[in-house]
Amino acid sequence: MTPYVADPVYLNGRFLPLAEAGISPLDRGFLYGDGVYEVIPVYSRRPFRIDEHLHRLQGTLNGIRLANPLSVEDWKVVVEKLVAEAPWDDQSVYLQVTRGADDKRDHAFPPASVVPTAFAFSSPLVTTPADIRARGVAAITVADQRWARCDLKVISLLANVLARQQAVEEGCAEALLIRDGFLKEGAASNIFVVKDGVLLAPPKTQLMLPGITYDVIIELARLHGLPLAVREIAENELRDADEVWMTSSTKEILAITRLDGEPVGHGAQAGRPGPIGEQMWQWYQDFKNTVMRKG
Ligand code: PDD
Repeated sequence: MTPYVADPVYLNGRFLPLAEAGISPLDRGFLYGDGVYEVIPVYSRRPFRIDEHLHRLQGTLNGIRLANPLSVEDWKVVVEKLVAEAPWDDQSVYLQVTRGADDKRDHAFPPASVVPTAFAFSSPLVTTPADIRARGVAAITVADQRWARCDLKVISLLANVLARQQAVEEGCAEALLIRDGFLKEGAASNIFVVKDGVLLAPPKTQLMLPGITYDVIIELARLHGLPLAVREIAENELRDADEVWMTSSTKEILAITRLDGEPVGHGAQAGRPGPIGEQMWQWYQDFKNTVMRKG
């Protein structure tokens, strides 16, 4: 076992140690990035919103025309076993399906006899340390250079990788992707903006991944009567925001307090996590402790 990946992992119907899990170099995931994935957070050994994650997985598989090698029930059994065998209570379970390995390299789909590769493993769920959360993190904006189906959770992530790496090299935690003058999302997160007490969320289009955490935030905003507008956010609105947050299954809700070197927000609040983000984080924690930890 590595400190980050629990044994056993799941590969094509078998549970085995990571060190013994091998796939063909001709696997289309390796050759073409031809595959899909999911990341499911697990709280107190209970997978959170697993039905929604498996539903999104199916949507992505449909989007790339690849049959799901496992039923929803089979996936749940796989996740249950990985979670039960891992040494941590809070985990992050990764699922991946690729179009499998043919006996040659050819862009078009392989014959039906080539079976998909299904791989899954569990890692510890690493939450953001309290001091970093209290300060918030820095982000940069970059041009969104991804393809036109960003709603599909595919493993071809090169544009996301390059954007995140640029952020890291500039001492930042995330890169915010701007396309045609509008904020879409982060390299590996959804982005929310607060302006004049209103929570702004970019709409679910083919140019943004529909985050499971995003849905929870929208539900919590509605539940608590927080003013909410789901609409496109122009780049200048992002720069003039009172608050900016990133959200994902692994990061939960994290304030972005510096953007392209400038403090986010206005007046005394500038460069500090804002009150609405703090409130949402608290709602999220309450929700986590009352609902998520109960499955
Ligand atoms: N990424 N947008 C992008 C591009 C993402 O990669 C992710 C998550 C999200 C947030 O989705 P969710 O709330 O369902 O985690 C939005 C995962 C965590 C990853 O790639 O590791």
